[in-house]
Amino acid sequence: MPARIILGAQWGDEGKGKFVDLLTREADYVVRYQGGSNAGHTVVVGDETFILHLVPSGILHPGKVGVLGNGVVIDPASLLKEIEGLTARGIDTEGRIRISDRAHVILPYHKTIEAFEEEREGGAGAFGTTRRGIGPAYRDKASRNGIRVIDLFDEAALRGRIEANVDWVSHWLTRDGGRRPDLDPAALFDQYRDFGERLAPMLADVTRLLNEELRKGTPILLEGAQGTLLDVDHGTYPFVTSSSASAGGALTGSGIGPRWIEDVIGVAKAYTTRVGLGPFPTEMPADLAATLRDQGAEFGATTGRPRRCGWLDGVGLRHAVDLNGLTRLAITKIDVLSGMDTLRIATGYETETGWIADFPADTGLLGRCRPVYEDHAGWQESLSGCRRWDDLPAAARRYLERIAEITATPIGWVSVGSGRDQTIIL
Ligand code: IMP
Repeated sequence: MPARIILGAQWGDEGKGKFVDLLTREADYVVRYQGGSNAGHTVVVGDETFILHLVPSGILHPGKVGVLGNGVVIDPASLLKEIEGLTARGIDTEGRIRISDRAHVILPYHKTIEAFEEEREGGAGAFGTTRRGIGPAYRDKASRNGIRVIDLFDEAALRGRIEANVDWVSHWLTRDGGRRPDLDPAALFDQYRDFGERLAPMLADVTRLLNEELRKGTPILLEGAQGTLLDVDHGTYPFVTSSSASAGGALTGSGIGPRWIEDVIGVAKAYTTRVGLGPFPTEMPADLAATLRDQGAEFGATTGRPRRCGWLDGVGLRHAVDLNGLTRLAITKIDVLSGMDTLRIATGYETETGWIADFPADTGLLGRCRPVYEDHAGWQESLSGCRRWDDLPAAARRYLERIAEITATPIGWVSVGSGRDQTIIL
């Protein structure tokens, strides 16, 4: 390698977990670099299904080390519960999870304020978040009021910061006559000091750890959560998550430099889905979306929410190729498209002022864009047993070749089911 980035090229839920799991075989360390327990990575190992929210899926491979970088926001309660769940299922996590001492932690008031913001004025200003406190935690980080993992060990500073933040949140929530939140700073201090003690054996200076390993030639996999179109800078702002889900975030969120990156792999579904609110030009009519949702089991791994479904958006995918510098694509869930007579790929958008081929910054405009589609013949055969390129029906091969052409990016893998072996390697 030595360092590879793998990330979502759409709005999340592309099936990254399976590819992270596959590529972990070639890495010693797997690093999460942004997001938090808003992510839900589903990995199927034999008959067992694991849904991981914070712990990198590399942990399912004996001997590999899972790292949470400084760019992640950690909900300690959720992380410790996840580790306990893995241990209960026979996964030995001892000494195999390392946490950056610079990562910020999520506190209950982040969720309180997020719920308030999502619900105020009857939800008029909602983003449809996962309500895991992600946005408010990154807001505290940017406004320099956040609490980092390392701060859990400085009692006086921790107590002061919690008191000040609870005070601020209470002021904010009650200023228009709202109810005072049920937040006890002393109890929070005790709880988070205790979390610190339990996390202490996993703490690391992740920047130093990864750089030392890279200098030795140790292969490292950087695992993105969510997807490029949810990136706070490059996504469909403000309908985004609050972190850098694109390739740049892999560097700032783990503390390594660009010289180490040899490969940037974008995972994309053979169609498009989105959870939560925001523009989605290729969204399908409800009846067709319902069929695809059922066939593809398109329900959120974290919240269980039904995902919105649509045709493949070549414009969004090209945007992801450019801003991540993607070297290869992994196309997932193509098996779900079996049985459809015609498949559509958007190659541009029609707007009130003409045709555009690039993803616009204006979110309102994106919401009004009408996709320009090219239609492709579908196939009826099940693809779940295909293991080689030549096993795929000609129509499926043509559809995939067209994706590679539109994005000017080679396809490295095609996934035809959730099992580890249901993968065509090109
Ligand atoms: P947040 O990350 O909880 O703040 O949510 C912001 C937006 O990102 C919402 O539209 C969520 O539905 C979406 N989102 C967050 N995490 C994921 C994910 O793992 N998969 C898909 N969408 C996500």
